[in-house]
This record gives sequence, C-alpha cells and structure tokens, in this order.
Amino acid sequence: MPRGLFITLEGLDGSGKTTQIKRLAAWMEKRGMHPVVTRQPGGTATGDRIRALLLDSGGTGLAPMTEMALMFADRAQAIAEVIEPALASGKIVLCDRFTDSTEAYQGGGRELGSQSVLELHRLICGDLQPDLTLLLLPTLAPSLERARNRNRRASEQSGKDENRFEQEQEDFYRRVWQKYREIAAREPDRVVLIEGNLTIDEVHEQIVEAVSERLVSIGPKS
Ligand code: TYD
Repeated sequence: MPRGLFITLEGLDGSGKTTQIKRLAAWMEKRGMHPVVTRQPGGTATGDRIRALLLDSGGTGLAPMTEMALMFADRAQAIAEVIEPALASGKIVLCDRFTDSTEAYQGGGRELGSQSVLELHRLICGDLQPDLTLLLLPTLAPSLERARNRNRRASEQSGKDENRFEQEQEDFYRRVWQKYREIAAREPDRVVLIEGNLTIDEVHEQIVEAVSERLVSIGPKS
C-alpha cells in the first residue's frame, strides 16, 4: 500500500483557512478522493479537551512553554490516532494547522524561537513533515479584523469563548506573520505561499493548482 499524502493549511487567524479547507475537501471528494480532514489543536477526544484548555480566554496565565507543550501534546495524539493511520492506509490527510503554527505563534509570537519548536517536533512528532503546506498570508489588518468579528459572532452564538489568541496585541501577530514568511523562505519546496488580498475563489484556484501539481507528481490517491 503506497503511503498517503499529508497536506497542511497554515495562516493567521482570519486568513480564510477553514473555508478553503472545506472547499479543497469538496473538490477532492468530487474527484473520488476521500480525504481525512482534521484540525489542530483538536481533532481527537483528548485534543478537544486540550483545545478548550488552550483557547478559553478565561484560562489566561498559561506560561508560553506550557502553551507550547500542550500544542505538542495535542499533536502527538493526533499523529498517533488520526494522521499516521490514515497515511499508512494510503489516504490524503488535510490538516488545519500543524507544527508551522507552533513555530509561528509560540516560536515567533511568544518569542520562544524556532530551534526549540523544531527540536520538540523531532522528539515528539518523529519529525513528520507535510508533503505540501498551503500558507495563506493576506495582509495583516483585514485578516485580524475578520478573525475578531468571527470570534465575536461565534461566542455570542455558542456561549464558548475562544478569543484568547485574538486578544493578543498587534505586535504579536506581526511576529507570527514574519515567522511564517521565514518558514516559507526556508522551505520553498514544501510551502506554497498564497499572498495578498485575494478573493475566496482566487485563493481556491491557487490551492487547486498547487495540489494538482503534487498529485500528478505522486500518482493517484484515494
Ligand atoms: P482556531 O480557532 O483553530 O483558529 P483558526 O480557525 O484561525 O485556525 O484557533 C487556533 C488558535 O491556536 C490560533 O490562534 C492559532 C493558535 N495555535 C498556536 O498558537 N500554536 C499551534 O501550534 C496551533 C496548532 C495553533
């Protein structure tokens, strides 16, 4: 059984990742590929509990190292329970955020540095690398505004509070944004950077183009 394909979507809060991952999954389904779609933090029963701990804005006061360790605890569980079994059975995995998020948010945003993130990734995740990473990086201001509005609406509707990261200062997001660009420059073969303020359709087209190229180079998947 040939190994599956591991695709991650990355970007700032409000960059439209969630919409794009749904559209990409639908595009694949139409073509007879049945991707496994998951997200981080979350995606497993244990991971959903870790997610609540991480994102509940009442739970401020997490030390940056605690936050990073929880992100990796979540990821280790997702790899063991969802990602590795799917890849081993030849499936395509679409994952909303992976270790690039930890490098950008904890390494860059919280200033823990890339090295500690990459070392933990080797140790805890067996250095599992995505085959392709789609990095959505619209300009900072409109992206943050969308994230704030979305979270305000979501917490009004569900009563859940996931605003913790959106409450960070603009400087924090600037560092996240810069770290993402650094990752893209360091790993141009893996990371496809989709920049600028494009429409949802335009971003989808670029994603489909990048994914199609990858699919052609590895042959058919189901
Ligand atoms: P989520 O609601 O999934 O945001 P989005 O839909 O924008 O992806 O919240 C995930 C938040 O967690 C987001 O602000 C980024 C942050 N995060 C980290 O700080 N480090 C990580 O390793 C991961 C996976 C996410």
